[in-house]
Amino acid sequence: MRKRDPSQKSWAEPWKIKMVEPVRRTTPEYRRERLREAGYNTFLLASEDVSIDLLTDSGTSAMSDYQWAGLMLGDEAYAGSRNFYHLEANVRKFYGYKHVVPTHQGRGAEHLVAQIYIKKGDFVPGNMYFTTTRMHQELAGGAFVDVIVDEAHDPESQAPFKGNVDLQKLEDLIKKVGCEAIPYVSLAATVNMAGGQPVSMQNARELRALCERYAIPVLLDATRAVENAYFIQQREQGYREKKVAEILFEFCSLTDGAWMSAKKDSLVNIGGWLALNDEEKFDAARNLVVVYEGLHTYGGLAGRDMEAMARGIEESVEDDHIRARVGQVEYLGQKLLSWDVPVVLPIGGHAVFLDAKRFYPHIPRENFPAQTLAAQIYLEAGVRTMERGILSAGRDPKTGQNRLPRLELVRAAIPRRVYTQAHMDVTAEAIEEVYWNRKRASGLRLIYEPRYLRFFQARLEPV
Ligand code: F0G
Repeated sequence: MRKRDPSQKSWAEPWKIKMVEPVRRTTPEYRRERLREAGYNTFLLASEDVSIDLLTDSGTSAMSDYQWAGLMLGDEAYAGSRNFYHLEANVRKFYGYKHVVPTHQGRGAEHLVAQIYIKKGDFVPGNMYFTTTRMHQELAGGAFVDVIVDEAHDPESQAPFKGNVDLQKLEDLIKKVGCEAIPYVSLAATVNMAGGQPVSMQNARELRALCERYAIPVLLDATRAVENAYFIQQREQGYREKKVAEILFEFCSLTDGAWMSAKKDSLVNIGGWLALNDEEKFDAARNLVVVYEGLHTYGGLAGRDMEAMARGIEESVEDDHIRARVGQVEYLGQKLLSWDVPVVLPIGGHAVFLDAKRFYPHIPRENFPAQTLAAQIYLEAGVRTMERGILSAGRDPKTGQNRLPRLELVRAAIPRRVYTQAHMDVTAEAIEEVYWNRKRASGLRLIYEPRYLRFFQARLEPV
C-alpha cells in the first residue's frame, strides 16, 4: 500500500467555523488619510479601518463553543465564585503552581509581582525586556538587566533556542551586585521581543540549578509558555514523544511562580493570573490584589471571564491545537522567506517579525525604520502590524536618552483561530509589494511623545 511520508503531510485546523464577522475593505486613498490622522501609529487606527489585524495576538483570539457556553455559567458572586475554583484547579493541574490570584490581565499580575518582590536599588535579570514587564520592575525601584544569549539580538542567527538565558552573564551579575540585590530572575518563554523565540528545557534546568545555589527565585512570564512547550517538543532531544501538556508542566516545575496574560495562550479576550509556590509571597499577593484589582477570588474579572479562561487553558495545551496555531505562523513566515523578504529566523511562535534594518537600510534609526514599515504595510493593504524597535524601547529613565535596541522589527502577530491561510496569502503578497518598493520609503519623526510606554500613543509625521 502506498503511503505518504508523515512529515510531508498537510495539517488542518482541529476546528471548523460556526460564526463569522465581516471584514471591511478600504481604498489606498482612504487609508492614507486615516494613517495621517493616526500620526502614523498603527495603535491609533480604528479597528474598523483595518482589514487584516495583525497588531497583536493578545485578546484577539476566537473562543470555542465550549468557552462561549462557559460564559453562560458565570457565577457572579463577589466572593468565592465557582469559576474561580475552576480556574485555580486548572492552573494547578496544567501549570503546577500551588497558589493562584486572578488579575484583569498580564500587567496586573506584573504590577503585583514587582511590588511584592522588588525593593529600591534591586537588579532584575531577564531574558530580554518586555515593555510592560520592565515598566513595572522600574516603577517598583528595580533596574532590568538583559541576560539573554547573544544570538537573540541577531535576527539572522538560526539557533533553535534564542530565548535561552546566558548563564555566564547571569552569574557575572550575581557576583557583581550580590544575590541580595536580585529579587528574582524574570524568565519569559517564549521571548516576545526577540521574535517569539523559545527557551529550552535544558536551559531552564541549568538556570534553576544556578539560582538554587544563590537562593534566587525564578519567576516565569508564562504568557506564551504553551507555544514554548511546543517548540521543545519539536526541537529538543528527548521530547518528541511527550505531550505538550506534559512538557509545559515539567517546564513550570523548574520555576517558583509565574504571571500570565491569558489573552495569548489561553484563548480569551481578557484575563490573567499570578501564581506562586511561596506561602508568604502569596499571602502578600492575595492582600495587594484587593487594592489594585479586586477581591482575591475575582481579581478584576467577571466570573464568566474566569470560566472562559479555565476552559481556554484546557484547549490551549491540546497538541493538535498548538500545532495548527504555530503552523499558521510558520506558513506566513516561510512564504515571505521564499520571496527573500528579510524576516527574523527561526520563525517565532506567535508572530512573523520583519527585519526593518535590512528592509530599509537607507532609513536612519532616528527616523524609525520599523514604524515606517508598519505604516507602509497598512497603506498597501489595510494590514495592521506593530513596531518593535527604537520607538517601543523608549528612553532610559536615568539619562532620558533613546534606548537603542539592536533589533528594529515589525511584528505581524497572528490571532489564534481567527484568520485563514488565504488571509496569510494576502498579507504576504502585500508585504512583498512593500518590499519591491522599499527604496521609495523615507522615515518618520516624532511630533508627540507620551511619558510611559510611548509607542502606544506617540504621533509621528513623514520627514
Ligand atoms: N508578557 C508578555 C510576554 C507579553 O507579550 C505581554 C503582552 C504581557 C506580558 C502583558 O500582558 O497585555 O495582558 O497586560 N503583550 C501584548 C502584545 C500587549 O501585543 O504582545 P497584558
